[in-house]
Amino acid sequence: MADQSTRDPIEIRLTSAQRVHYVRQTGMVLPSSLSFYPAQLKRLSSVAVKAGTDTLPISRSAVKEVLEPKSSSEQGSDSFAVEVMLTSEQKEQIRQVTGHVFTSLRIVPDDVPVTYNETWDDAIPIRVGRTMVIKPADKSYETSHATQIIELPVGDSSKQGVFGTGRHPSTQLSLVLLEEYVESGDRVLDLGTGSGILAVAAAKLGASEVLALDIGAAAVAIAQETVSLNNVADVVEVDQGSIESAAPPFDLVVANIFPKVIIELAPNLGTTLRHAGVLITSGSVVTRAKETANAVCAAGFSLEKQRPQDNWIGMVFRKP
Ligand SMILES: C[S@@+](CC[C@H](N)C(=O)[O-])C[C@H]1O[C@@H](n2cnc3c(N)ncnc32)[C@H](O)[C@@H]1O
Repeated sequence: MADQSTRDPIEIRLTSAQRVHYVRQTGMVLPSSLSFYPAQLKRLSSVAVKAGTDTLPISRSAVKEVLEPKSSSEQGSDSFAVEVMLTSEQKEQIRQVTGHVFTSLRIVPDDVPVTYNETWDDAIPIRVGRTMVIKPADKSYETSHATQIIELPVGDSSKQGVFGTGRHPSTQLSLVLLEEYVESGDRVLDLGTGSGILAVAAAKLGASEVLALDIGAAAVAIAQETVSLNNVADVVEVDQGSIESAAPPFDLVVANIFPKVIIELAPNLGTTLRHAGVLITSGSVVTRAKETANAVCAAGFSLEKQRPQDNWIGMVFRKP
């Protein structure tokens, strides 16, 4: 094997089993390899060796996890680490650089760049909830009973990287909960609109005003296209931005966004809703649901409902 005591970064290629484990724990996608400078790996390994652990922390937060491990009663109250077991080849790769054998990597998801796990290719019409069908605009769907049909744009490669084809459990959970909670005439905020799918669903379910916000320019462009395709531009406004661009009060906020963001925004979500308003969140995998719910409840909400699908949880909170 090559001498790795050089200054070049080393690449640790991740197996599909490691990536699947990580996605199940966090809902986020790991890159296909992790890159480290040897000096960085040596620093991280010396922390682990001093702490007497055979788990190698790969970020500053993961180092904190190693140095200040939480008791089980504190689990889920602060950062959240995932342990990824190393293959023998990866162990050897790391041993060559650090001189130590580690059995696993400790990764704090918030320190790893987020990518969304969806592709727009090969989308087909799907039924969601009792009344909705999500379909690419160029595919037909025959139905004999009254159905809300939500059409999604097709044929533009810029959609890659924008989330919201309707196939992901977190989107479907939000759709089903919108179907249950949107009332005719509601003013709705769709925070993190992605493709605009939830904003269009809210409009079709009877909301009289919907604000769809996303921090990503590509998402805003696709969401605008989705809104025109579905002829709901008189109800749905799409803007680039986050919660600070939303003038309260809303009757309902839906946010299919990762726990880190929901936790950060929880106090603002409280001020955005009217008294007795509803907050729907669905971007959390099961392992992070408690952490998200605790933060939202600490901002004054009460947890009204939890709905699981696969490894994901949709949650409904009520503002007092
Ligand atoms: C998981 S996607 C959800 C897309 C769509 N609403 C759905 O349910 O399929 C999350 C979206 O939230 C956006 N986002 C992330 N942080 C945000 C924030 N602080 N404010 C607004 N949008 C945000 C991302 O750009 C992304 O498009």
